Amino acid sequence: MAVGAVAVSCMYFVGACSAQTAATSPGGGVDAGTDAVAPRSDAGATLATSWYATGKPFADRYCRSCHGGQGPGVGDFTRYENVAALAPAMLAAVTSGRMPPGASDPACRDYANSDRRFVSAEGRASFAKWVADGTPKGEPNGEVAVAELDETIANPDLVIKAPAAYAPTYSNPNEPGNEYRCFALRPGLTSNKYITALAPVLDKRAMVHHIVAYRMAPDHLPAAGKSYPEDGWSCIDMVNAGVSVTGDPRQSDGMIVAWAPGTGAFNFPAGTGLSLKSTDVVVLQIHYFASGRVAAGTKDQTGFAFKLVDSVPTPIAIAPVGKSAFTIPAGDPAYSLTGSFGPVALPLTIYGTMPHMHVLGTGYELSVRNVDASQNCVAKADRYEFANQVTYLFKNPVVVPAGAKVDFRCTWDNSAANPNQFYTPPVAISYGERTDQEMCYAFTLIGLGN
Ligand code: HEC
Repeated sequence: MAVGAVAVSCMYFVGACSAQTAATSPGGGVDAGTDAVAPRSDAGATLATSWYATGKPFADRYCRSCHGGQGPGVGDFTRYENVAALAPAMLAAVTSGRMPPGASDPACRDYANSDRRFVSAEGRASFAKWVADGTPKGEPNGEVAVAELDETIANPDLVIKAPAAYAPTYSNPNEPGNEYRCFALRPGLTSNKYITALAPVLDKRAMVHHIVAYRMAPDHLPAAGKSYPEDGWSCIDMVNAGVSVTGDPRQSDGMIVAWAPGTGAFNFPAGTGLSLKSTDVVVLQIHYFASGRVAAGTKDQTGFAFKLVDSVPTPIAIAPVGKSAFTIPAGDPAYSLTGSFGPVALPLTIYGTMPHMHVLGTGYELSVRNVDASQNCVAKADRYEFANQVTYLFKNPVVVPAGAKVDFRCTWDNSAANPNQFYTPPVAISYGERTDQEMCYAFTLIGLGN
């Protein structure tokens, strides 16, 4: 946390932070002279770098959705002056893996917009080279354009928004600068439908860090949400969101998706869709973030848009793959365990997944274990952040053959060194739906058949 805080304040005081870097930048040369500045050879070391051909496409691809002047990330990385000044801090954040926020490795299985969510080794090397070259600006005619990510859906059938604009108070002492707020929304459907695509409808982008959408029967709303309060209710815990896992079938009906900037809109594969009953309530758990660029007291009224159809050949169900009933030893910096689903009686297809742990979670692996013990990677990351949970929709769905199992391995850091640690000294942490307990579920989008 301390490191992040220092770097963030560095971004507010750009001049004081990396002024030297900017001052020593050759600021224009993309000629052979810049090579003399490069320390040693790595991938692409012989190529001339420039803002237009190297720095900007990198920032546009991996950072712009949050640091483009409108998102929750501080600064505006679409501007050369800013990036030239902040390049060392940006490179440090990328090299350490803090930024962009940890995502599943597409080498395990490719998913929608992975090329913007997971930094490739080549991408990192070229940005590092540009920084080592002294962040030369170069000429606009060398620009490599990265298209803006479309995060909306055209002609939605249903748009639901929080009932009133809400100003986060950021008053939870455990979450300075962050607030998890739930809003219960009534879709007002007259018949049961299937969701085939969805996307958030953002009001104040800079405040919205990420959103998890749930669907549930009205009588499953938690006490705080029963009256559909206009200003929502505080709900960092699943319990307070109204979602429950253990032995409660409503959980599998509970998840819709988790969205964050850069995720894009969600378009389920043709012929599939997620049930939304006429009686269902949609709960949005919005993670608000005090980015410093939005005045205190600013109100937001974010919602979600849906494409709906009456029926689909393959309804998608959401299976929580993982484990309850476990204890993570106090102090263990890398404790792992695996929970399994199956063996499945009939073949299934996996379309996507949303890995979920709480604040001590650091990594995960979801895989299909075949009858012959061979494994098929589904989603895998060695960085996981509670504050950046997202759903991955696979480009090529995975088939789980009859007799196979699906395994989900979770890894946690329960040491004093974990900046997200709740307890000093650390204590043994057991399964539970409160945020100071831990969970280990991949909410996996499955359909019957292959
Ligand atoms: C999904 C949104 C998102 C994306 C994508 C993203 N950031 Fe961030 N970034 C944030 C937020 C929010 C913060 C504020 C502090 C935090 O939440 O960690 C931040 C903070 C930072 C900081 C200051 C804190 C630190 O850890 O050093 C740097 C530097 C940074 N980002 C660089 C980058 C770079 C470089 C990229 C692209 C390669 C990037 N970020 C992509 C959301 C994002």
